[in-house]
Amino acid sequence: MIKRIRSWWRHKDNPNVVEITSENIPQHVAIIMDGNGRWAKRLGLPRIVGHQSGMKAVKRATIAADELGIKYLTMYAFSTENWKRPKDEVDFLMRLPQEFLAIELDELIQKNVQIRMMGDKEGLPKHTLDAMEKAIKLTENNDGLVLNFALNYGGRKEITDCMSMIGREIEAGRLRAEEINSQWVEDHLQSTGLPDPDLLIRTSGEMRVSNFMLWQLAYSELWFTDIYWPEFNKNHLHDAVAEYQRRTRRYGGLS
Ligand code: IPE
Ligand code: IPE
Ligand code: MG
Repeated sequence: MIKRIRSWWRHKDNPNVVEITSENIPQHVAIIMDGNGRWAKRLGLPRIVGHQSGMKAVKRATIAADELGIKYLTMYAFSTENWKRPKDEVDFLMRLPQEFLAIELDELIQKNVQIRMMGDKEGLPKHTLDAMEKAIKLTENNDGLVLNFALNYGGRKEITDCMSMIGREIEAGRLRAEEINSQWVEDHLQSTGLPDPDLLIRTSGEMRVSNFMLWQLAYSELWFTDIYWPEFNKNHLHDAVAEYQRRTRRYGGLS
Protein backbone atom coordinates (compact mmCIF):
# COMPACT_ATOMS: atom_id res chain seq x y z
CA MET A 1 0.00 0.00 0.00
CA ILE A 2 1.29 3.44 -0.93
CA LYS A 3 0.27 6.36 1.23
CA ARG A 4 0.51 9.72 -0.42
CA ILE A 5 0.92 12.44 2.11
CA ARG A 6 0.25 16.02 1.11
CA SER A 7 2.87 18.33 2.36
CA TRP A 8 3.57 22.03 2.15
CA TRP A 9 7.21 21.21 2.53
CA ARG A 10 8.75 21.50 -0.89
CA HIS A 11 10.30 18.47 -2.38
CA LYS A 12 12.76 18.79 -5.24
CA ASP A 13 10.88 16.49 -7.65
CA ASN A 14 7.43 17.68 -6.83
CA PRO A 15 6.78 20.90 -4.96
CA ASN A 16 3.68 19.84 -3.06
CA VAL A 17 3.73 16.14 -2.42
CA VAL A 18 6.06 13.78 -0.64
CA GLU A 19 5.45 10.13 -1.17
CA ILE A 20 5.87 7.77 1.75
CA THR A 21 5.25 4.09 1.53
CA SER A 22 3.81 2.48 4.62
CA GLU A 23 6.01 -0.58 4.06
CA ASN A 24 9.33 1.03 4.90
CA ILE A 25 8.60 3.30 7.83
CA PRO A 26 11.65 3.66 10.11
CA GLN A 27 10.96 1.74 13.27
CA HIS A 28 13.03 4.03 15.48
CA VAL A 29 13.55 7.74 14.82
CA ALA A 30 15.91 9.74 17.05
CA ILE A 31 15.91 13.53 17.03
CA ILE A 32 18.53 16.05 18.15
CA MET A 33 16.23 18.97 18.81
CA ASP A 34 18.55 21.88 18.20
CA GLY A 35 18.23 25.60 17.53
CA ASN A 36 15.80 26.78 20.20
CA GLY A 37 18.08 29.58 21.29
CA ARG A 38 18.86 30.83 17.79
CA TRP A 39 15.18 30.70 16.87
CA ALA A 40 14.38 32.97 19.81
CA LYS A 41 17.34 35.24 19.11
CA ARG A 42 16.20 35.74 15.53
CA LEU A 43 12.92 37.05 16.92
CA GLY A 44 14.68 39.23 19.49
CA LEU A 45 13.39 37.05 22.35
CA PRO A 46 15.17 35.40 25.31
CA ARG A 47 16.51 31.87 24.72
CA ILE A 48 13.99 30.35 27.12
CA VAL A 49 11.15 31.40 24.82
CA GLY A 50 12.76 29.15 22.25
CA HIS A 51 12.74 26.23 24.70
CA GLN A 52 9.10 26.90 25.54
CA SER A 53 8.24 26.91 21.86
CA GLY A 54 10.36 23.81 21.28
CA MET A 55 8.10 21.96 23.70
CA LYS A 56 5.20 22.42 21.27
CA ALA A 57 7.33 20.97 18.50
CA VAL A 58 7.87 17.86 20.67
CA LYS A 59 4.11 17.40 20.72
CA ARG A 60 3.81 17.89 16.94
CA ALA A 61 6.63 15.45 16.25
CA THR A 62 5.11 12.86 18.58
CA ILE A 63 1.67 13.02 16.95
CA ALA A 64 3.16 12.95 13.46
CA ALA A 65 5.42 9.99 14.31
CA ASP A 66 2.49 8.09 15.76
CA GLU A 67 0.38 8.77 12.66
CA LEU A 68 3.12 7.42 10.41
CA GLY A 69 3.40 4.22 12.44
CA ILE A 70 6.87 4.92 13.83
CA LYS A 71 7.27 2.68 16.86
CA TYR A 72 10.05 4.41 18.82
CA LEU A 73 10.79 8.12 19.00
CA THR A 74 13.85 9.23 20.99
CA MET A 75 14.17 12.93 21.75
CA TYR A 76 17.48 14.46 22.87
CA ALA A 77 16.25 16.94 25.45
CA PHE A 78 19.31 17.62 27.64
CA SER A 79 22.88 16.43 27.28
CA THR A 80 25.47 15.76 29.98
CA GLU A 81 27.28 18.81 28.56
CA ASN A 82 24.28 21.14 28.76
CA TRP A 83 25.01 21.72 32.48
CA LYS A 84 27.69 24.16 31.27
CA ARG A 85 24.95 26.65 30.39
CA PRO A 86 23.91 29.53 32.66
CA LYS A 87 22.04 28.37 35.75
CA ASP A 88 18.83 30.21 34.82
CA GLU A 89 18.64 28.43 31.49
CA VAL A 90 19.40 25.03 33.04
CA ASP A 91 16.73 25.61 35.72
CA PHE A 92 14.23 26.49 33.03
CA LEU A 93 15.07 23.40 30.97
CA MET A 94 14.72 21.22 34.08
CA ARG A 95 11.19 22.50 34.64
CA LEU A 96 10.10 21.77 31.06
CA PRO A 97 9.50 18.01 31.41
CA GLN A 98 6.94 18.52 34.16
CA GLU A 99 5.31 21.36 32.25
CA PHE A 100 5.16 19.26 29.11
CA LEU A 101 3.69 16.32 30.98
CA ALA A 102 1.17 18.46 32.89
CA ILE A 103 -0.20 19.66 29.55
CA GLU A 104 0.18 16.56 27.38
CA LEU A 105 0.19 13.44 29.55
CA ASP A 106 -3.58 12.81 29.41
CA GLU A 107 -3.60 12.94 25.63
CA LEU A 108 -0.47 10.80 25.40
CA ILE A 109 -2.13 8.19 27.62
CA GLN A 110 -5.23 8.27 25.38
CA LYS A 111 -2.98 7.72 22.40
CA ASN A 112 -1.48 4.67 24.12
CA VAL A 113 2.00 6.25 24.18
CA GLN A 114 4.59 4.68 26.47
CA ILE A 115 7.01 7.18 27.99
CA ARG A 116 10.58 6.16 28.73
CA MET A 117 13.78 7.90 29.65
CA MET A 118 17.49 7.40 29.24
CA GLY A 119 20.21 9.44 30.91
CA ASP A 120 21.58 9.80 34.41
CA LYS A 121 18.76 10.09 36.90
CA GLU A 122 21.12 10.98 39.77
CA GLY A 123 22.03 14.36 38.33
CA LEU A 124 18.44 15.51 37.82
CA PRO A 125 16.56 17.75 40.25
CA LYS A 126 13.96 15.84 42.25
CA HIS A 127 11.00 17.67 40.69
CA THR A 128 12.17 16.76 37.17
CA LEU A 129 12.79 13.13 38.01
CA ASP A 130 9.49 12.80 39.92
CA ALA A 131 7.52 14.08 36.91
CA MET A 132 9.33 11.72 34.54
CA GLU A 133 8.97 8.71 36.81
CA LYS A 134 5.28 9.36 37.32
CA ALA A 135 4.73 9.51 33.55
CA ILE A 136 6.83 6.39 33.00
CA LYS A 137 4.84 4.50 35.63
CA LEU A 138 1.45 5.67 34.33
CA THR A 139 2.26 4.62 30.76
CA GLU A 140 4.31 1.47 31.37
CA ASN A 141 1.58 -0.86 30.13
CA ASN A 142 0.81 1.14 26.99
CA ASP A 143 1.87 -0.57 23.81
CA GLY A 144 1.67 2.28 21.30
CA LEU A 145 4.46 4.66 20.32
CA VAL A 146 7.43 4.59 22.71
CA LEU A 147 8.41 8.20 23.44
CA ASN A 148 11.91 8.01 24.88
CA PHE A 149 13.42 11.17 26.36
CA ALA A 150 17.20 11.49 26.55
CA LEU A 151 17.54 13.68 29.60
CA ASN A 152 20.93 14.27 31.19
CA TYR A 153 22.14 11.83 28.57
CA GLY A 154 25.62 11.47 27.13
CA GLY A 155 26.80 8.71 24.82
CA ARG A 156 30.30 8.59 26.31
CA LYS A 157 28.94 8.42 29.85
CA GLU A 158 26.62 5.60 28.80
CA ILE A 159 29.50 3.60 27.30
CA THR A 160 31.80 4.37 30.25
CA ASP A 161 29.13 3.19 32.70
CA CYS A 162 28.81 0.00 30.69
CA MET A 163 32.58 -0.55 30.87
CA SER A 164 32.65 -0.04 34.61
CA MET A 165 29.78 -2.51 34.94
CA ILE A 166 31.86 -5.03 33.02
CA GLY A 167 34.78 -4.41 35.41
CA ARG A 168 32.59 -4.91 38.47
CA GLU A 169 30.99 -8.09 37.10
CA ILE A 170 34.41 -9.55 36.31
CA GLU A 171 35.79 -8.58 39.73
CA ALA A 172 32.82 -10.25 41.39
CA GLY A 173 33.43 -13.41 39.35
CA ARG A 174 30.01 -13.22 37.66
CA LEU A 175 31.38 -12.58 34.16
CA ARG A 176 34.28 -13.84 32.09
CA ALA A 177 35.99 -11.70 29.42
CA GLU A 178 35.03 -14.22 26.70
CA GLU A 179 31.35 -13.66 27.48
CA ILE A 180 31.46 -9.99 26.47
CA ASN A 181 30.13 -9.42 22.99
CA SER A 182 28.11 -6.69 21.27
CA GLN A 183 24.87 -8.22 22.50
CA TRP A 184 26.12 -8.02 26.10
CA VAL A 185 27.02 -4.36 25.59
CA GLU A 186 23.62 -3.61 24.02
CA ASP A 187 21.84 -5.27 26.91
CA HIS A 188 23.69 -3.00 29.36
CA LEU A 189 23.26 0.35 27.63
CA GLN A 190 20.52 2.75 28.70
CA SER A 191 18.68 2.09 25.45
CA THR A 192 18.25 -1.59 26.25
CA GLY A 193 15.03 -2.93 24.77
CA LEU A 194 15.01 -0.38 21.95
CA PRO A 195 16.25 -1.19 18.46
CA ASP A 196 19.01 1.08 17.09
CA PRO A 197 17.68 4.26 15.49
CA ASP A 198 16.98 3.79 11.79
CA LEU A 199 16.88 7.52 11.21
CA LEU A 200 18.57 10.38 13.04
CA ILE A 201 17.20 13.88 12.52
CA ARG A 202 19.07 17.01 13.58
CA THR A 203 17.63 20.48 13.17
CA SER A 204 19.36 23.89 13.11
CA GLY A 205 21.94 23.20 10.41
CA GLU A 206 24.56 21.69 12.74
CA MET A 207 26.04 18.50 11.36
CA ARG A 208 27.38 16.68 14.37
CA VAL A 209 26.08 14.14 16.85
CA SER A 210 27.01 16.04 20.04
CA ASN A 211 27.52 12.93 22.18
CA PHE A 212 24.18 11.39 21.24
CA MET A 213 23.73 7.58 21.06
CA LEU A 214 27.32 6.98 19.96
CA TRP A 215 27.01 3.20 19.98
CA GLN A 216 23.47 2.99 18.63
CA LEU A 217 23.91 5.33 15.64
CA ALA A 218 26.51 3.08 14.00
CA TYR A 219 24.31 2.40 10.94
CA SER A 220 21.57 5.01 11.28
CA GLU A 221 20.61 7.14 8.31
CA LEU A 222 21.32 10.81 9.06
CA TRP A 223 19.06 13.67 7.99
CA PHE A 224 19.86 17.30 8.65
CA THR A 225 17.75 20.38 8.15
CA ASP A 226 18.50 24.07 8.55
CA ILE A 227 15.22 24.84 10.25
CA TYR A 228 15.28 25.51 13.97
CA TRP A 229 13.59 23.02 16.30
CA PRO A 230 10.62 25.28 17.26
CA GLU A 231 9.69 25.38 13.55
CA PHE A 232 9.63 21.60 13.19
CA ASN A 233 6.29 20.22 12.05
CA LYS A 234 4.84 17.11 10.50
CA ASN A 235 5.92 18.11 6.98
CA HIS A 236 9.55 18.04 8.05
CA LEU A 237 9.11 14.57 9.51
CA HIS A 238 7.46 13.43 6.28
CA ASP A 239 10.31 14.87 4.29
CA ALA A 240 12.89 13.09 6.45
CA VAL A 241 11.03 9.77 6.18
CA ALA A 242 10.61 10.17 2.41
CA GLU A 243 14.36 10.77 2.10
CA TYR A 244 15.03 7.77 4.37
CA GLN A 245 12.98 5.63 2.00
CA ARG A 246 15.11 6.72 -0.95
CA ARG A 247 18.31 5.54 0.76
CA THR A 248 19.87 2.09 0.41
CA ARG A 249 21.16 0.64 3.66
CA ARG A 250 24.05 -1.72 3.13
CA TYR A 251 25.56 -2.27 6.59
CA GLY A 252 28.93 -2.83 4.98
CA GLY A 253 27.60 -5.39 2.53
CA LEU A 254 26.45 -4.99 -1.06
CA SER A 255 22.94 -3.94 -2.03
C1 IPE B 1 18.31 22.84 21.78
O1 IPE B 1 18.43 24.18 21.47
C2 IPE B 1 17.87 22.60 23.21
C3 IPE B 1 18.91 22.09 24.09
C4 IPE B 1 20.13 21.80 23.75
C5 IPE B 1 18.55 21.88 25.47
P1 IPE B 1 19.67 25.06 21.92
O2 IPE B 1 19.38 25.61 23.27
O3 IPE B 1 20.93 24.30 21.80
O4 IPE B 1 19.62 26.23 20.86
P2 IPE B 1 20.85 26.84 20.08
O5 IPE B 1 21.57 25.69 19.45
O6 IPE B 1 21.68 27.56 21.07
O7 IPE B 1 20.22 27.73 19.06
C1 IPE C 1 22.66 18.88 21.50
O1 IPE C 1 22.56 20.24 21.24
C2 IPE C 1 21.92 18.53 22.76
C3 IPE C 1 20.47 18.59 22.69
C4 IPE C 1 19.76 18.86 21.65
C5 IPE C 1 19.80 18.28 23.93
P1 IPE C 1 23.67 21.27 21.74
O2 IPE C 1 23.18 22.61 21.33
O3 IPE C 1 23.95 21.07 23.18
O4 IPE C 1 24.94 20.81 20.90
P2 IPE C 1 26.26 21.60 20.49
O5 IPE C 1 26.80 22.24 21.73
O6 IPE C 1 25.87 22.62 19.48
O7 IPE C 1 27.15 20.55 19.91
MG1 MG D 1 22.24 23.98 20.32
